[in-house]
Amino acid sequence: MSNVKEKKENTFKRDVYEGLIAYPKKISSKYFYDKKGDELFQAIMELPEYYLTRTEFDILDTNKKEIVEGFKNTNEGFDLIELGAGDGKKTKILLDELIKQESDFTYKPIDISQNAIDGLVKSLSIEFPSLNVAGEKGEYFQVLDRLNTISNRKKVIVVLGSNIGNLLHNKAIDFLRQLKDAMNDQDLLFMGMDQKKDPQKILDAYNDPTGITAAFNKNVLTRMNNELGATFDINKFKHWETYDPETGTAKSYLLSTEAQKVYIESLSLEVQFEAWESIHTEISQKYDDKIVNWLADQAGLRIIDFYTDTNNQYKNYIFSK
Ligand code: AVJ
Repeated sequence: MSNVKEKKENTFKRDVYEGLIAYPKKISSKYFYDKKGDELFQAIMELPEYYLTRTEFDILDTNKKEIVEGFKNTNEGFDLIELGAGDGKKTKILLDELIKQESDFTYKPIDISQNAIDGLVKSLSIEFPSLNVAGEKGEYFQVLDRLNTISNRKKVIVVLGSNIGNLLHNKAIDFLRQLKDAMNDQDLLFMGMDQKKDPQKILDAYNDPTGITAAFNKNVLTRMNNELGATFDINKFKHWETYDPETGTAKSYLLSTEAQKVYIESLSLEVQFEAWESIHTEISQKYDDKIVNWLADQAGLRIIDFYTDTNNQYKNYIFSK
């Protein structure tokens, strides 16, 4: 256990080192999610501007019967494996429907945050006492390597929240291809993907006036302060969001509002920032059917069905091999 923790910290340390000696500077969004980051993301999902969660919730709620029937297409028992389960709020709609339909299935939620997994497993034991749950902490690419050891039944793999959007296309294809490699012919992949739309709506979703998204982005600075002994003054960094309607890529940055030096104790590293220099922290990719078809094709998957809302803001695709 302590080994695992140490390894995790070293990965953070190494990634911070590599990201901050690089030009332009960058730090992966996967480091947003500690306890505080989870709380901030919960608050983001409640924001009126952050339409993603609400839209996907409504899509699942409206179509739950049909979606669940699709999961049970072969009449075999199956494992429902969710990558990036978080608080499970949306998945619970499907779990509830599966239980109502007396389905033979187990639920295996996986999340990068141990805190999220602990909270989810606890709430599931209260809300669905009969449900067979095996939660696990892990990162996508680590978990994918051993998906077949996690499950030897039919698999329905669920990735909600447009979480794949954190990966630029090449990595998204790697991710989808690894999923495909872990899938058998009967297995399904159910994936939520945010769609291209009015750019203003996207910018607003990632730059809310209350500053919660800014605080979420800056949480990575706080983590470096707390975990790596860094001296970031978070008031000297500004959250900045861009969206390119051509590529569909939303990007988050932290901008150094003045020239400054930051020391990172555990790396014995002094990092120099020019005024208005950027640290790139996150991408949130937006899709259309053309891009999704291309990604699926590159990965050896095909779209067999999808669900959407009345305005096509968001889509949940079903893929198979
Ligand atoms: C959880 C990765 C889907 O990119 O929309 C929310 C994270 N970042 N606000 C997203 C996020 C800023 C979110 N994902």
